[in-house]
Amino acid sequence: MNPRDLLDQLLHPYESFTALRTEFGPVSYNERGKFWEVFGYDDVLELASDYETFSSDGSPFAEYPEEMTKGQSVLTTDPPRHRQLRSLVSQAFTPRAIASMAPRIAEITNDLLDQVTRQGKMDVIADFSYPLPVIVIAEMLGVPSEDRARFKHWSDQMVVSEYEDLSRDNVEEYNKRVRTIMRQTLDELYDYFRQVLAERRLRPQHDLVSALLAAQIEGESLFEQGILAFCSLLLVAGNITTTNLIGNALLCFDEHPEVMEQLHARPELIPQAIEEVLRYRPPALLVGRYATRPVEIHGCKISTGESIIGWLASANFDPAQFPDPQRFDIGRAPNRHLGFGHGIHFCLGAPLARLETKIALSILLERFEHIRRERLQPIETIRSVFIMGPRHLPVTFQVRA
Ligand code: HEM
Repeated sequence: MNPRDLLDQLLHPYESFTALRTEFGPVSYNERGKFWEVFGYDDVLELASDYETFSSDGSPFAEYPEEMTKGQSVLTTDPPRHRQLRSLVSQAFTPRAIASMAPRIAEITNDLLDQVTRQGKMDVIADFSYPLPVIVIAEMLGVPSEDRARFKHWSDQMVVSEYEDLSRDNVEEYNKRVRTIMRQTLDELYDYFRQVLAERRLRPQHDLVSALLAAQIEGESLFEQGILAFCSLLLVAGNITTTNLIGNALLCFDEHPEVMEQLHARPELIPQAIEEVLRYRPPALLVGRYATRPVEIHGCKISTGESIIGWLASANFDPAQFPDPQRFDIGRAPNRHLGFGHGIHFCLGAPLARLETKIALSILLERFEHIRRERLQPIETIRSVFIMGPRHLPVTFQVRA
């Protein structure tokens, strides 16, 4: 996909992803990236569900260092290893464990809003939707949330990256440059967490890092590299996506003032509005797999080892699954969007992301009204092929009486 289209995707997701599906779908080979792409709901669902045919243990993106993409974390393993790793960490993410975090999430939300209340305006991203999840995940992991400028830098390097500004004309050169940036980012991240691990080994605390150190898979402790990979995954996957879910939600509500009004009047509808945002403007655009055997999709013969991208964002507009897919409809039922993926790799952090976003939006709408996007400057999108969301979202508001 041409990175120049990213703004269009954010502003006109239905048109952009429908055009993509109509032009290339249902399956096509991307010559430049050397991977296959699938666009329809059923095909993306199949790609995410059939882990025996479509493996996660390797990346479709040739430019990434192998240790990021193979066999290290839940995201990049297949069963049985995936099951073992996921069971180790899923304790921390059960709906009950997550629900117990609600008061703290509300407190952080209120603190962040306190800081902008008097000025009557804020950048939703910088002032609100970025710090909230980063503070939450930092507290879960047990690392100082004051380090969040560094977390942001690392997260950006991993997915959003300045490398998007590099020329893609020379694929070799581009891949080399991306690999160098990734290598440097991983080294910094791992050095950071290695130090945290060393401290927790000496003085365990009630946090996720200490729990991971104590955890065992069939009598064996998690190897250090596995813990480092998981902590880094959480820091990156847990942040940028939730930031963009909150940002994308406000963008949707700004475009549909009647929805904003409805949610002010009936905040109990916020959870279903969030589900529709996950369909209409999903922060995570795609999942990647590779074929473990020769497989045919709609007559296209995919060979063993070839990579396949499943476009979640395109599947979410498939009219065979969603009637009137172009309508942003918070009453949509059923709404089986693929915003959190599907199958064994279904987002581990989904209950946390949903809770954070629900609390963030509920308190925001409870405290402020007439929330309007400032239209002084054109909207800018983050530059990533994986993640969709606004880079900045300046809004004005009034404090509710
Ligand atoms: C997996 C999206 C928030 C941790 C995934 C996948 C998607 C996704 C699409 C599936 C990837 C695949 O199948 O290859 C999102 C979105 C989020 C979000 C849209 C926010 C709106 C979070 C949070 C955390 C998290 C808050 C943790 C704190 C993970 C992990 C996996 C994952 C660990 C890998 C699960 C596995 O492979 O078994 N996420 N995510 N995510 N997500 Fe999220």
